[in-house]
Amino acid sequence: MPATARPSLRGARAFDVAVVGGGIAGLTTALLLKRQGLAVAVVEADRVGGGASGNNTAKVTALQSTVYSKIVARHDTAVARTYAQASAAGVELVADLVRELGIDCGFRRAPAFTYAYRADEVDAVEDELAATRAAGLPVTADAGLDVPFTVHAAVRLDDQVALHPLRYVLGLADAVDGDGSAVFEHSRVERLHDGDPCRVHTADGVVSANRVVVATHYPVFDRGLYFARLEATRSYGIAVTLASGEPPTGLAISAGSPSWSLSSYDGKLVVCGRAHPAGDRPDHPYEELEAFAREHWDVERVANRWSAQDPSAYDQLPMIGAYLPGSDRLQVATGFMKWGLATGTFAARILADAVAGEENPWASTFSPHRLSLKSLPDLLKMNASTGLDLVGERIRPADASSSEHLPAGQAHVVRDGLGKMGVYRDHDGGLHGVSMRCTHLGCLVAFNDAEASWDCPCHGSRFDVDGNVLEGPATKPLPRRAPK
Ligand SMILES: Cc1cc2nc3c(=O)[nH]c(=O)nc-3n(C[C@H](O)[C@H](O)[C@H](O)COP(=O)(O)OP(=O)(O)OC[C@H]3O[C@@H](n4cnc5c(N)ncnc54)[C@H](O)[C@@H]3O)c2cc1C
Ligand code: FES
Repeated sequence: MPATARPSLRGARAFDVAVVGGGIAGLTTALLLKRQGLAVAVVEADRVGGGASGNNTAKVTALQSTVYSKIVARHDTAVARTYAQASAAGVELVADLVRELGIDCGFRRAPAFTYAYRADEVDAVEDELAATRAAGLPVTADAGLDVPFTVHAAVRLDDQVALHPLRYVLGLADAVDGDGSAVFEHSRVERLHDGDPCRVHTADGVVSANRVVVATHYPVFDRGLYFARLEATRSYGIAVTLASGEPPTGLAISAGSPSWSLSSYDGKLVVCGRAHPAGDRPDHPYEELEAFAREHWDVERVANRWSAQDPSAYDQLPMIGAYLPGSDRLQVATGFMKWGLATGTFAARILADAVAGEENPWASTFSPHRLSLKSLPDLLKMNASTGLDLVGERIRPADASSSEHLPAGQAHVVRDGLGKMGVYRDHDGGLHGVSMRCTHLGCLVAFNDAEASWDCPCHGSRFDVDGNVLEGPATKPLPRRAPK
């Protein structure tokens, strides 16, 4: 990740607006607010762009897998039209900002595709063609995707955007910083006071502001029952160099499960996929992505790999607007379903209008407080496993009574008095013990071998082997335990 030298928040500071979270949603919102003449503080727990915004497949597009079929099924065509208009506007806002700010991020226009990798995906592609047409997108039925395997069917949308997402987000941060606004890094917000003014507290400082925008990906404050309405899915990506042949120029994703998402950057082929609910233990995701790439391309080597997760709402629409019903001081943007480069950008437009008190034609569709009756079964299903995860410590057996024989690079569960602890052995032989009770709402974390992290199956919080928060909604570390 390129170095930045942004300060952390220390002491008491006052701004017009505090934006919590330095991803694409938070930084774009901050920039639009700054352009309205407001003094804005972005308070980022880690580094700007270090979350999902810097770790994705880099497609900025209004054509998004089979999203429109799902929206039509759970809502109606009018909602799909609004989603299409807003997403297309998000793509163009990114293009405008790259041009206006002169961000060096490898911007290029490219067609986007939803394709059938297997013959049994053709129906889903045809449904998406109908749904995207009904939504008003200028799509074509086109199998002209330049890949070295048979494409059984495809939907195509021209003039979408590929770019290096981290460079883009860093460019946004540069534009926000200065002239009375500021970007703070390594400043995890732990508490929020909703008042006049609001206050966001980190371990070392506090920002007072009239308005707060919560753009932490998964909302980190325990109000509004977001945790019951969102589900995070984790996915993996690799970038490979090719010994011969070319990566595709199009931005493509297959319609089935598993899905294979393809793009390219700097002559490298990018493959993303192997999605699973956050907190589940993945089986060799990077190896499977590499095997897919090697099956179809002449791969020289894997140059890079990464993973990230993204929350989706039970009714398949982002949640953008007032954090709590009737409150205009707190705003939120979340639930981008792995399409937040376009949708997190249009979210910024909605939030900037909300802060300015201006009407926005898309706002009511994405209100976090809408109710989709058609999606109630999805809501119940989403919450069904949480009870089990909450009592998991009592019913899950320990793996061992000591860590004496635990191999390096692995973790297991050890009895700890009446409870259990998680123990990891690092590659130098050191043991790291943590409580397995997630500090968000108390579910039991599980070890993720692919990332060497403790992940929570309930709402996707992640912790490193010493318990430090890697991803929220948790804001507090797992308590450390003396390893046995
Ligand atoms: C594998 C993968 C591939 C994807 N590919 C695409 C794609 O091709 N196209 C597309 O449009 N979308 C894609 N996405 C989705 C897209 O990356 C996300 O939707 C988008 O980046 C979310 O932006 P965000 O600003 O909401 O979140 P983030 O970028 O995660 O930003 C949130 C920030 O908040 C910070 N934060 C969290 N808690 C706190 C706290 N307590 N205090 C302060 N800061 C905090 C985090 O550190 C983080 O930097 C993909 C996602 C994944 C997982
Ligand atoms: S993330 Fe909610 S209980 Fe762990």
